Amino acid sequence: MKPLKYVLALFTLIICLHCKQNPATPTGTVTENAMVVSARQEASEIGSKIMKEGGNAFDAMIGTQLALAVAYPRAGNISGGGFMVYRQADGTIGSLDFREKAPKSAQKDMYLDSLDNVIPNMSTLGAASIGVPGSVAGIIEVHKKFGKLPLKQIFELVIALAENGVEVTAKQAEILKNYREVFIKVNSDSTKFAQVYKEGDKITYPNLAKTLRAIAEHGRDGFYKGEVAKKLANFIQANGGFITEDDLASYEAIWRTPVVFQYKDLNIISMGPPSSGGVTMNQIFEMIEPYNIASFGHNSDKAIQLFTEASRRAYADRNYFLGDPDFVDIPTSFLLNNNYLANRMADFSWKKATKSEAIAHGKLEIIESMETTHYSIVDQEGNAVSVTTTLNGNFGSKLYCDELGFFLNNEMDDFSAKAGVPNMFGLVGAEANSIEPEKRMLSSMTPTIVEKDGQLWMVVGTPGGSTIITAVAQTILNGYEFNMSMQDAVNAPRFHHQWLPDVVIFEPNGFSSSLKEKLKSKGYIINEERTPIIGKVDAIRVLSDGRLEGGADPRGDDSAIGF
Ligand code: DON
Repeated sequence: MKPLKYVLALFTLIICLHCKQNPATPTGTVTENAMVVSARQEASEIGSKIMKEGGNAFDAMIGTQLALAVAYPRAGNISGGGFMVYRQADGTIGSLDFREKAPKSAQKDMYLDSLDNVIPNMSTLGAASIGVPGSVAGIIEVHKKFGKLPLKQIFELVIALAENGVEVTAKQAEILKNYREVFIKVNSDSTKFAQVYKEGDKITYPNLAKTLRAIAEHGRDGFYKGEVAKKLANFIQANGGFITEDDLASYEAIWRTPVVFQYKDLNIISMGPPSSGGVTMNQIFEMIEPYNIASFGHNSDKAIQLFTEASRRAYADRNYFLGDPDFVDIPTSFLLNNNYLANRMADFSWKKATKSEAIAHGKLEIIESMETTHYSIVDQEGNAVSVTTTLNGNFGSKLYCDELGFFLNNEMDDFSAKAGVPNMFGLVGAEANSIEPEKRMLSSMTPTIVEKDGQLWMVVGTPGGSTIITAVAQTILNGYEFNMSMQDAVNAPRFHHQWLPDVVIFEPNGFSSSLKEKLKSKGYIINEERTPIIGKVDAIRVLSDGRLEGGADPRGDDSAIGF
């Protein structure tokens, strides 16, 4: 090697070693003690206020979840479901499943016509698509196990928000406009959301405030029994749905063991079934670990290829094997076995894309735009909470119960209505995720907490349907392998592959045409005409001095607030 080249190589090596040693300088909001990052400023503010008033991250979780139901009704909810992964300050970890479930009258073929074809829209639009809501049971469980502040004190902050109203942002005005027709179609033109809302308008929710009062007063029975339950079941049935008072009364949230795995010196804690998030992300990380992805460069062709091939294989397994663990036997140790995963990648070649048909069969399209929401919380004691919650589609089933003040979910579409036929995220399901009475539909939600050197390092999650798992994995890699600050890791352009359809989806910006051409020449099929944004990641990184850096996704109105 010529001397100049030698000096340059040495210089690059020193810089690289230096990068690994010096964590990225924060570029997002930094606080000393506590933080909430969520989809709306009002919700982050309420969560942060609760912690300032002496509440812990779990109290803040309750406030943030409820405040999102008011300020972010397209996904925030009391009538949907979700998952919480937590890590207490002493390192104890756990997770809560408050996923919706099928009503007792549900049947495997409930969305099929007499010729066994899937009835269009039945599992996505209107009352027939609603799963038994889990969110209220979730927050009440959290309060029972970990709450510090009285439930009423937390609820009062949110009730005030609902009564005083929330300002419509530009993005919200746009989305309400886009959905107005369908709100009218599903609900009639007398519904609250038949109105036209402009940026800067205030929407108040007096009826939601009343429902929240009933819950503050009677706990879970304020929603699942009595007056509210009766009104809710009657309303759903009057609109052609299946949920009864008995379905509501027998809903329970379930504490579950999280999925925990190592990636190099990270310890990753994520959600297990009925979410596919933890298992699928574990498979992806295990398949890419033998490679030095950092050396390929962020979003380089090689990094994209490796991640895509791992995702292709992991999603093929997801769609076949995963479902509600209370109904199906999931071969988890087989799916997470190192030899099995090494074998899965044995036919991976840098020269040529693997074809998805070579792994399994199916055909589909991604149809509807989607909305879920994620929030991350760390409190002043060091407790961390990671929650993803959803109505499934934007505004769920679009059915709005004016009397009680909320939208209802369309989570039943997350079941596989018919084996081999894609749902609205283009996911092709199998028997493991078929409909059964009281079964939970498979989810992709991936609320995650990451430890580094045994300490809390990152709290992360996102909406995005089937793209959730890859967006969370890429955010962790951005922070760990590519040494980005929390905010930069969230901002960075994302891509996605989910086995079927056999397409790599790129976000609109950040991927050059020469990069895409290079991938195409190796046989990758690329989304040319439709480039959606992928996820809205809300995350927190613990800096080496203990301060917190927020990563609030600029793709939405998301906001990091703390003290
Ligand atoms: O549980 C799931 O995987 C889906 N219901 C999540 C929906 C979603 O993320 C839509 N968001 N953008």
